[in-house]
Amino acid sequence: MKYKMLKYSTIRKRFNLERLNSDSTELANFTHFLQNSNEDIFRANALNYLEEYDLDILSAFEPSSIPYLPIKWDIPFPGPENPDFTFIDLFAGIGGFRIGAQENNGKCVFSSEWDKYAMLTYEKNFGEIPFGDITKISASEIPDHDILFAGFPCQPFSYSGRNEGFKDKTRGTLFFDVLRILEEKRPKMFLLENVKGIMSQNKGKTLQIILESLENIGYHIKWEILKSYDFGLPQMRERWYCVGSINPIIFEFPVGKANKPALKEIIDFSEKSPLLALSQFEMERIDFHFKNVGNGVERVKHDNSKYEPNTKKGKHGVYSFQKADGSLRFHVGDRSKTQIQEAFYCTLNSYSPTIIANRVPKLWDLGRKLSILESKRLQGFPDEYDFPVSDNQAYRQLGNSVSVPVVQAIIQEMKKYL
Ligand SMILES: C[S@@+](CC[C@H](N)C(=O)[O-])C[C@H]1O[C@@H](n2cnc3c(N)ncnc32)[C@H](O)[C@@H]1O
Repeated sequence: MKYKMLKYSTIRKRFNLERLNSDSTELANFTHFLQNSNEDIFRANALNYLEEYDLDILSAFEPSSIPYLPIKWDIPFPGPENPDFTFIDLFAGIGGFRIGAQENNGKCVFSSEWDKYAMLTYEKNFGEIPFGDITKISASEIPDHDILFAGFPCQPFSYSGRNEGFKDKTRGTLFFDVLRILEEKRPKMFLLENVKGIMSQNKGKTLQIILESLENIGYHIKWEILKSYDFGLPQMRERWYCVGSINPIIFEFPVGKANKPALKEIIDFSEKSPLLALSQFEMERIDFHFKNVGNGVERVKHDNSKYEPNTKKGKHGVYSFQKADGSLRFHVGDRSKTQIQEAFYCTLNSYSPTIIANRVPKLWDLGRKLSILESKRLQGFPDEYDFPVSDNQAYRQLGNSVSVPVVQAIIQEMKKYL
């Protein structure tokens, strides 16, 4: 029997999938079923939901045992039809891991993310609404998979009882949820990502507990700090990556690329939006720097009478300095003890600092901050990645995400051991 192909965009409209509320479990379940019709975990709930809402679509889906539903995935990033491995995307954000894994012919069988705006972005690009709060999801609700991905928020552990096990020390944190899912589902491998600061948190104890807990549940692990700058992106983003394997393996992290890109390679020179322009105050003090630098002056002192005398800026003054790579830094104070970075302006020939949720890189020579398109490129997201949310949300989501080429390269190495 021949089935009529249904476009995902038709289903999306019909079921009003953008209508997310605080409990979107039903929609998460439904879209997970559309993507994984062979997973019993999603089937019963999804069929009930379908029956309630739309009998036409249900008839097109019968019998439900066919491995792939007759859906035409008209979305930016459909999954592969003949995957080499399966994975789950925890703390999914906007799916940086998912793109890197799909580029390696991996198929996502489960995602979880509780931020409404990130969920909207995720659905728009992957045709799937992530399940919400991971602390409320039991491992039995998650399909079997080969790799678990998680860029979990880093939280301090409590050190109450002296004789408690490693797992108990992590209870109440989101790492605990990663651990319990690994312990129960036992995927062949995992890849975790975190900020570099995880190494020094609580004098290194946090990291020690993380590593020991993972080893304790039977994983062989290896971690490394990698720079996005080494993987073709003009961004000095350093992150902690940890690969685990259930089998004893000698895993080597990828070393990256020899050629180092400059920001000009990702700039959209046709972009002229006044919304991106640096403020007049910023442009004036950048001009002031270039007018006053030279003739023995390296560090330019700015007029600090604008600042309240009892504030740090008022007390120590604001200074600007141009680094050898061309970037311009503003500091509060000019001595090592007082020097606090106040602003960082990069340039077309340099790289940018880490893009984070509330800081979009700015270029002094362009006189503006990066656009959304450029910020996508800075994180290695394809241009066709779609943001159905406000620009502020899009910048925030990109700042929280992983750099796609870095995880893509790590997953490529991991695949050798699956
Ligand atoms: C550092 S971001 C990870 C971003 C992701 N790796 C990406 O590529 O976009 C951490 C994410 O975890 C989500 N999160 C935090 N607590 C959560 C919870 N209890 N359940 C589900 N998601 C959670 C946050 O909303 C945030 O998007």
